[in-house]
Amino acid sequence: MEKHFEGKNVYITGGSSGIGLSAAKQLAALGANILIFARTKERLEAAAADIGKHCLSEAQRVSALQIDVGDNENVNTVMSRAVLEFGPPDLLINCAGRAYPHYFEKIGYEQFDQTMKTNLYGIWNTTAALVPEMKKRGGCIVNVSSIAGFIGIFGYTAYCASKFGVIGFSEALRSELRSYGIRVAVLCPPDTDTPGFAAENKTKPEETKEASKGAKLMPPDEVARQLIIGIKRGRHIIIPGLDGKITWRIKRFFPALVDAVLNSQIKKVQKRLKGTHMEARP
Ligand SMILES: NC(=O)c1ccc[n+]([C@@H]2O[C@H](COP(=O)([O-])OP(=O)(O)OC[C@H]3O[C@@H](n4cnc5c(N)ncnc54)[C@H](OP(=O)(O)O)[C@@H]3O)[C@@H](O)[C@H]2O)c1
Repeated sequence: MEKHFEGKNVYITGGSSGIGLSAAKQLAALGANILIFARTKERLEAAAADIGKHCLSEAQRVSALQIDVGDNENVNTVMSRAVLEFGPPDLLINCAGRAYPHYFEKIGYEQFDQTMKTNLYGIWNTTAALVPEMKKRGGCIVNVSSIAGFIGIFGYTAYCASKFGVIGFSEALRSELRSYGIRVAVLCPPDTDTPGFAAENKTKPEETKEASKGAKLMPPDEVARQLIIGIKRGRHIIIPGLDGKITWRIKRFFPALVDAVLNSQIKKVQKRLKGTHMEARP
């Protein structure tokens, strides 16, 4: 495993928190040079210092750059600088993301726009900026989708739209970039214990909260560990955890069954919530 990443340049958007940060630390521990990207300077600096502690040798480089992945012009400027100062990426992990779960009518255009800009356009922007460089020497791109990238989840209309898009984009791109020696993979994490996930609970509909009550969250370090194994094995789709893998297969072969199970879960919860103070359905 060590040799696979040793001395490689790894770019990670969203590398200052959650899954991206865990991946950055583990790849640093495998000898990679790490360049993380996010918007907030203080969090980037703290994360870079943390990642630095996991490096194997003094020769490894860890750096951080501010970026807004949803802003095409900004991405082009920052990525040009990154390539010049850090060297082009061997591995690009597009992990920056956001979720604003709510009832469809309460999400509104602005939240939908922000979600699409970050989760889908963001991946397009960074990939478009870096593919010309990556074509010169090959490499790997991992785009982070979600279980909600292949199953429609109550309260996640905007998020699901963006994450379903990530899977379609990645499949098409894989086919185009194969001949240049660039592999394209998709990571579909389950619910993971990150700052991003904690923030989602503020707006998540009661139905969604209740339906997933008691479900165990995956630690981000475990998601990152399985991501790295998946990259090493050349997987196209990386789904951490057995439940996620089973869900992927059932959804592919028996989509109506998944629909029926989810609908009955939501119906039960709505029945339970009816008349209680928690009923929040518009
Ligand atoms: N946690 C889960 O349960 C879960 C499940 C499935 C999929 N995912 C996906 O996994 C990825 C990571 O999620 P997480 O839970 O680890 O998130 P997180 O802890 O909230 O971290 C998100 C990261 O993305 C950065 N970011 C957000 N918007 C950005 C923008 N416009 N430009 C640049 N950077 C931006 C954040 O930094 P700044 O805010 O400073 O920019 C931060 O570094 C996301 O794509 C998410 O959709 C998460």
